Amino acid sequence: MRPIFGSSLTKKLVMALAGLFLILFLLVHLSINLLILSDDPERYNRVAHFMASNPVIKVIEVVLMLSFLIHFIWGLVLQIQNWIARSFRYRTTHSSQTSFFSKYMIYTGVIILIFLILHFLNFFFVKLGLVEGDPENFYGMAYELFRNPMYTIIYLICFLILAFHLNHAFQSAFQTLGLNHPTYTPVIKGLGLLYSIVVPAGFSIIPIVICFFK
Ligand code: HEM
Repeated sequence: MRPIFGSSLTKKLVMALAGLFLILFLLVHLSINLLILSDDPERYNRVAHFMASNPVIKVIEVVLMLSFLIHFIWGLVLQIQNWIARSFRYRTTHSSQTSFFSKYMIYTGVIILIFLILHFLNFFFVKLGLVEGDPENFYGMAYELFRNPMYTIIYLICFLILAFHLNHAFQSAFQTLGLNHPTYTPVIKGLGLLYSIVVPAGFSIIPIVICFFK
């Protein structure tokens, strides 16, 4: 019987494309949120207001949410299929040439999903009016949040997990899209390593500076 939503390969391709879109989103989200470190709240709040009110961004936001959903659901489905297949195929522990973090993608993925739910309660749901707060002053809300060492520690742990996930995710997405080449693959792996360090480190600077230096 033909699988409903396409073969595992199709699911992996769709998941990789959604993943690459999320990788792009994180770069944009980081560059906007680094404005929080400026002493002028208006700079950040103006951009946050633009992001909240611009109709094009609203459409992109729907694509973003769908990408997260598709990426997570297909990730879970493919992992469960893998576990079932493996329980039939392997009785002995099988150590293949996979990167260290690739073995834990489903666990780091679930933790990032839990982080997103907390993060939406902190910010995004405020914007939607579902949670109390001032959507015109995300600057003030971020300072209030990260002045609480508990939130800063939670966010920092989640950014570390995000780094582990991105470390394998970046190269794996390009591999799934068939970009395997003796010259390009080492470059993609290098870019992936750089991205998985720089982006989570960039996000980590925000709570660290607010909590310990502002
Ligand atoms: C210190 C780090 C971060 C800060 C200060 C921050 C701040 C914000 C704020 C103020 C919003 C609501 C405004 C808006 O919706 O545009 C938001 C939304 C969002 N954040 Fe973050 N964020 C951070 C890190 C992250 C990370 C690491 C992820 C993903 C793993 C993430 C994913 C999202 C998503 C998906 C939304 C809703 C989509 C959107 O509207 O842009 N954020 N964030």
